[in-house]
Amino acid sequence: LQLVGKYIQPETKEVNGILVTKMMSENWDNIWNFQARPDDLLIASYAKAGTTWTQEIVDMIQNDGDVQKCQRANTFDRHPFIEWTLPPPFNSGLDLAEKMPSPRTMKTHLPVQLLPPSFWKENSKIIYVARNAKDTVVSYYHFSRMSALLPNPGTWEEFVETFKAGKVLWGSWYDHVKGWWDAKDQHRILYIFYEDMKEDPKREIQKILKFLEKEIPEEILNKIIYHTSFDVMKHNPMANYTTFPVSFLDHSISPFMRKGMPGDWKSHFTVTQNEEFDKDYQKKMAGSTLTFRTEI
Ligand code: A3P
Repeated sequence: LQLVGKYIQPETKEVNGILVTKMMSENWDNIWNFQARPDDLLIASYAKAGTTWTQEIVDMIQNDGDVQKCQRANTFDRHPFIEWTLPPPFNSGLDLAEKMPSPRTMKTHLPVQLLPPSFWKENSKIIYVARNAKDTVVSYYHFSRMSALLPNPGTWEEFVETFKAGKVLWGSWYDHVKGWWDAKDQHRILYIFYEDMKEDPKREIQKILKFLEKEIPEEILNKIIYHTSFDVMKHNPMANYTTFPVSFLDHSISPFMRKGMPGDWKSHFTVTQNEEFDKDYQKKMAGSTLTFRTEI
């Protein structure tokens, strides 16, 4: 970690062409050799896709809607973030995961080709959540501003270009969503969308329930919808990342629970920027059957 002004700026490195933090790259052999178990559940996503939201939904399902149990610990301690590597005294994802009794639920932002192969070998279940590129880049920009754990985003104009070029942590959004989309036909992957969750949380939670082979009464389902709504999660300290040291996450710059709405990109993109983004998007997504909604 390098001190830049008031904040700590992580150094970055590439692993097989994908930008990661230097600490992750130094830990890469351990990450790659991570031992998944058949009863693991992995929540995978590109950064800012609605990972924390999905994690809360899954935890509520697993705990039969018991809010108290879901407040046993912070999101990041309930679900190890497998590749995330921090210096002591902070827990790295691998340490947490290895200590955790089964059945484990974990998180990753790794692109499909960098997923530790034991997940495929053990046929662990994976939920992949995807969010449209424009809202993702906006959310990623604000998160990079408030987080000292991510590279400094520069200006909004600069960050949009960095994002398009895939020179951000976890690499190209375009390759990430397409890669996992293609993988879903060969593996136990439930592929869901942020916009669908926002539009009809009940329908999407029911998909997750089916995937987890779980049935719950209507009353618990409604409780889960309420507890995992943006406004409730925004005020839940075990889900909103406010317990993290302020030197790492500064919510006064931009809160982790920021807007929680599809379509906020419209207040960031200029007309020209939007046209250029769309043109580049068509090229990068050409040939894929994957489609996104940028508003609902
Ligand atoms: P915004 O910055 O657009 O508000 P991740 O958990 O993958 O880092 O994603 C964070 C994004 O999901 C943020 O988006 C955050 O506000 C949003 N989010 C978190 N919980 C949510 C919820 N319950 N409903 C809707 N959006 C949520």
